[in-house]
Amino acid sequence: ERVVVWGPGSLSNLGPGFDALGLCIQGLGDRVEAWRTETPGVTLVEANGLPGSSIPCDSTTNTAAVAAAAVLRQVGARHGVALRLHKGLPSGSGLGSSAASAVAGAWAANLLLDEPLPREALVEAVLEGEAVASGSRHGDNVLPALFGGLVLVSASDPTCYRRIPLPGPLSIALILPRVEILTRTAREILPRQVTLQDAVHNASALAFLIDAFRAGDWETVGRWMMADRIVEPVRARLVPCYEPVRRAALSAGAFGCALTGSGPAMFALARDEMHARQVLSAMREACLQSGVDVEGYVTAV
Ligand code: HSE
Repeated sequence: ERVVVWGPGSLSNLGPGFDALGLCIQGLGDRVEAWRTETPGVTLVEANGLPGSSIPCDSTTNTAAVAAAAVLRQVGARHGVALRLHKGLPSGSGLGSSAASAVAGAWAANLLLDEPLPREALVEAVLEGEAVASGSRHGDNVLPALFGGLVLVSASDPTCYRRIPLPGPLSIALILPRVEILTRTAREILPRQVTLQDAVHNASALAFLIDAFRAGDWETVGRWMMADRIVEPVRARLVPCYEPVRRAALSAGAFGCALTGSGPAMFALARDEMHARQVLSAMREACLQSGVDVEGYVTAV
């Protein structure tokens, strides 16, 4: 028996939700093909990266393989699993590339068990997979990729999370400027200390943001999504087209526009798919005019 599993991409932080909020997106992701083997453990047969990207091909460092191995260990499986990974998401983009692979790997291993585990039981395995890629067990990409939709997760204990139901669909314009940003660098430049005023501002912004998401009030979501005073203003300096893209998205009528994860990808919320296409075209144009090559997508939640 052979299974094919899709691991979706995700947007994380969404402004003030640094390491705490993530949203699963449609249409962009990684694919894993898997089958059982007699030999225990995980064999990574192939990891097809995108041109120019380097995906770890070793089963001890590849997130799909590590997450799959964690599932096998969790249930004490006597069999093993072979994986073939087809990357659709570039690494270092801010689109949850390592998380997508981890979720696909864990889910594939789970499907091949005699008695598959419930989704909630895969949380530890996907966090373990994410940790080998990023060095930290942060859940703001893996948990939305595992559960779908919007997920709020504790930044200090990622096994503590809450799925936030959204009352309606959401259209998103997404650009990937061709600028290389290492997540490590994007974390190192962040301030070690922040003022009480900024911390309190961000805490209330995140609370308002979650409330607006639950209400499906996308206009208010867009406003609070742009209210981060701690992380995004610092990281914006790494993306040369950041300000022009944001201005262009808002001029085209987007509800809000922000970096996703550690960037360089940026996303904007739109009324519907047609509007998202218009917003996307304005964002792309602004990026190109800043001298940065770019790819663009319209996606949805
Ligand atoms: N929340 C993390 C960050 C996501 O912004 O650094 C990185 O994948």
